[in-house]
Amino acid sequence: MSSRIIRVELGERSYPVVVGHGATKTLRTLLPAAARRAVIVTQEGLPTIGDLDLPHTSLFIDRGEANKNLSTIEHLCRGFADFGLTRNDVVIGVGGGLVTDVAGFAAASWHRGTSVVHVATSLLGMVDAAIGGKTAVNIPEGKNLVGAFWQPRAVVCDIDHLSTLPESEMRCGLGEVAKYHFISGTDLLAMTMEERIAECVRIKAEIVSEDEREGGRRALLNYGHTLAHALEIAGEHDMAHGEAVAVGVVFAGRLAGALGLIDGNRVETHERVVGDTYGLRTRPLRSHDPAELVRIMRRDKKAINGLTFILDGAGGLAVHNDVPEDVVVETLRTFLSE
Ligand code: GLY
Repeated sequence: MSSRIIRVELGERSYPVVVGHGATKTLRTLLPAAARRAVIVTQEGLPTIGDLDLPHTSLFIDRGEANKNLSTIEHLCRGFADFGLTRNDVVIGVGGGLVTDVAGFAAASWHRGTSVVHVATSLLGMVDAAIGGKTAVNIPEGKNLVGAFWQPRAVVCDIDHLSTLPESEMRCGLGEVAKYHFISGTDLLAMTMEERIAECVRIKAEIVSEDEREGGRRALLNYGHTLAHALEIAGEHDMAHGEAVAVGVVFAGRLAGALGLIDGNRVETHERVVGDTYGLRTRPLRSHDPAELVRIMRRDKKAINGLTFILDGAGGLAVHNDVPEDVVVETLRTFLSE
């Protein structure tokens, strides 16, 4: 087994992210020494973690974004209680972003904070969701509105798990990789899969170490997400998160062009990188009313200062609050009609 270890540096809460073929074999060494039992939180049909010489049980989350809710947290916590999980024990989240978000929040809440280790089985989970301690569930009023920052004790990214991933899930992860392309300016596709995942983890680890609670730079990780969240809601999740992020990144390029922050070449680079280099859709699956999308964006939990976008510019990506609504609507209208 070859693997790379990237550390998320957060003082005494620092932790390793192990990236490599067969990296799951390191899992046992990553569990807290005091843990006497473990609960594995996962979904049916996902890769398993092999033998664990520790008393353990598995709890399953049903598939689909609709299950990322408070009822699932209650279901998990009642399962923890049945199994006798104590605060010294460990929760192991095995799955994609939905699983690690939900398992992380359940662990953060159980006995006011129980250790969690994530085994990310999707590309999106490996490059983004499992790292950085954001945990949350949805309520009808919005995505990820109820949650906590709760850093894992370790994250495992086993490249072998990707061979079982459906094509649509790979595309979803690539949308987030394309995001890192613009955050870092690095040609990530020139790398092997292991190098690429390790590089995305390194970029995210560095940002999270600097700004754990998203007071500043961490917001850049939301590049493309303002429109993406609105598309997910308006499209009733017809596009997976990463696919919507890919469209959101291209639109963010277009909006930055409309606001005079970047030139036409750079706008075109967004279309080309996402559409040609990464081979992803650059427009939504269905038609959308621009005014409706803007209404949803205004409800976004980050929209405290009017419409907020991460936009490209001469100095790289930056947060822009109060982006004029008329420019957003007009740019969206043209963008969606092409
Ligand atoms: N997914 C964005 C972040 O972790 O901050």
